[in-house]
Amino acid sequence: MWQTNLKVLTVGALVLGFFTMVAHIVPQQASEVPEVLTLGAGATPEMLAAAGEKIFSGAGGCTSCHGLGTRAPNLVTDERGAGPIGARCGKQEAGKDCKTYLWEALTAPAAFVVKGYQPIMLDQRRTLSVDQIWALVAYLESNGGEVTVTGQDIVDAQAAAGAPKPAAAPAGERIDAVAVLGEFGCSACHKLKGEGGEIGPAFDGMGGRLTKDYLREAIVDPKAKVAKGYEENKDMMPVAFGEQLTKEQLNALIDYLASLK
Ligand code: HEC
Ligand code: HEC
Repeated sequence: MWQTNLKVLTVGALVLGFFTMVAHIVPQQASEVPEVLTLGAGATPEMLAAAGEKIFSGAGGCTSCHGLGTRAPNLVTDERGAGPIGARCGKQEAGKDCKTYLWEALTAPAAFVVKGYQPIMLDQRRTLSVDQIWALVAYLESNGGEVTVTGQDIVDAQAAAGAPKPAAAPAGERIDAVAVLGEFGCSACHKLKGEGGEIGPAFDGMGGRLTKDYLREAIVDPKAKVAKGYEENKDMMPVAFGEQLTKEQLNALIDYLASLK
């Protein structure tokens, strides 16, 4: 069930002024299912909400009940004068803030049943991974409220769900470049094996046209040059990877991208 079908994320309106990512080591599930992007500690509120929106209207199956307005409460539009879910989530249950309430609504729906409805909603952990659920919470918050979900919530939930503990990579161990791409959210903007965003040039084929030196500069100093055809998005590539990636991670990324001919 873990990591079943997170097809990520064309992040349409990604505003990355505050792309403050912490280089946590996230369980490297990506190596099991390579086409899957793991949302980890580095995920921004915008990335989470955009991923959540896709899950909500796609693989999550939420709209089969919540899209009709009769079987289940409205989430993206007003519900009985209380506003969309992001506006009312903090007031539904005494003592529970929005994020806590929404996590409970998705993982223990019977704990609080909205008045006037039947308890037909299932624990979403049966079919969705914890990062998908946090992405949904972020998306729900964004409907009328402020996104307070952070990448750390995902890391904590993965730890609580018994995901493999982040193992400090012993010196000299091979670094899984695909996992690093997932951890740092690169595929939100760059396609890899046909999957991912289109905000920046696809990783596929990059090694055929760019040298290792160019790749290094593009990652640590993206302002130095602008990829042809992407002038409009020139400020989107985060500028702090040079500090956030370890030397080993950076080298692994460069070798990997250079191999994509
Ligand atoms: C089988 C129908 C069904 C599906 C599928 C379903 N829900 Fe629900 N959901 C309900 C019903 C009915 C309620 C109201 C009763 C309750 O609180 O359990 C509800 C309540 C909620 C609430 C609390 C709403 C409020 O007004 O406080 C949230 C949030 C929510 N669902 C989100 C989701 C999301 C996100 C998904 C998809 C991952 C989803 N639901 C899938 C039926 C469904
Ligand atoms: C928020 C979107 C975004 C994220 C996240 C992102 N990039 Fe980019 N990237 C871009 C955009 C847009 C460009 C093209 C504009 C430019 O050259 O600055 C680009 C350019 C590049 C280039 C140069 C490509 C070329 O053809 O010249 C490389 C290499 C690259 N990114 C690697 C990465 C890596 C590795 C990561 C993750 C560690 C990453 N990017 C994360 C948006 C992003």
